[in-house]
Amino acid sequence: MDSIRPELFDFHGVSMSHYFTNNWENVQNFQARPDDIVIATYPKAGTTWVSYILDLLYFGQTAPERQTSIPIYERVPFLETARVASKKGKDLADKLPTSPRLIKTHFPIQFVPKSFWEQNCRIIYVARNAKDNVVSYYHFDRMNQAQPEPGDWNSFFHRFMEGKMVFGSWYDHVNGWWKKKQTYSNLHYMFFEDLLEDTGREIDKLCSFLGLSPSVEEKEIVAGKVQFDNIKKNSMVNYSTLSVMDYNISPFMRKGKVSDWRNHFTVAQNEEFDEDYKKKMKDHTLQFRTEI
Ligand code: A3P
Repeated sequence: MDSIRPELFDFHGVSMSHYFTNNWENVQNFQARPDDIVIATYPKAGTTWVSYILDLLYFGQTAPERQTSIPIYERVPFLETARVASKKGKDLADKLPTSPRLIKTHFPIQFVPKSFWEQNCRIIYVARNAKDNVVSYYHFDRMNQAQPEPGDWNSFFHRFMEGKMVFGSWYDHVNGWWKKKQTYSNLHYMFFEDLLEDTGREIDKLCSFLGLSPSVEEKEIVAGKVQFDNIKKNSMVNYSTLSVMDYNISPFMRKGKVSDWRNHFTVAQNEEFDEDYKKKMKDHTLQFRTEI
């Protein structure tokens, strides 16, 4: 049943829900192609935004009908999702007719199927500052019946610090991927805050990583289409076609801002969070902005 909220459980040391582990063997055996492009994120870090940018850059001109007929979660399948038997992400990815194939994952680094590394696939990792990430995740878990019961804000906030979220600890996730970047050159690590600050600049960086050279006009069109207000009303991108999500509770495209955490964190929570953050985030080469 769609509407049953799952329980969290420990899966190889990472909190997960069964919707993303049920197809584990098949997902681990996924056969990547050298031109596959992976979009990897901790949930709520801007996955859909970057997926849409890539889809437009690759197929916006050549297959414009995709934009109005296929929801983003089918254009860019979510590899490990196995909630709906007929729409397993791995099967959708296998069947993608596009070249390259754009594939989304929320896996922490150690869960990524080995074929992606063997094929030296390009991977784009999007990271978002922890404070806005936890706020966004809280509202998402409230509105998405396929996620565990979020509880109240204070308990969610503490569970986030303990890493008891679907896809585990934010701290381990962003650090694990950051470390991989030191040894795997086909990894582009980008930040939500930078993308919001200057979408054009970040699109340029993406193009240079991917070896794409769209015209200035094309890039402007892409930057315009992916602006928050446009994404929010685009039913092929805003997830309004998924019945498991309840927009009356909170929309998928909710605020699209940096610093909304200020409307949620109490002063005491903020101090507790900062204290704990310092202990967990020892690698000072990885810096996040909580304001822009
Ligand atoms: P908020 O809940 O803070 O609004 P994901 O796609 O990884 O689930 O991330 C969803 C978050 O990205 C939501 O954050 C959503 O509003 C935000 N987002 C998506 N597109 C955006 C855009 N064009 N500009 C700003 N934020 C965007």
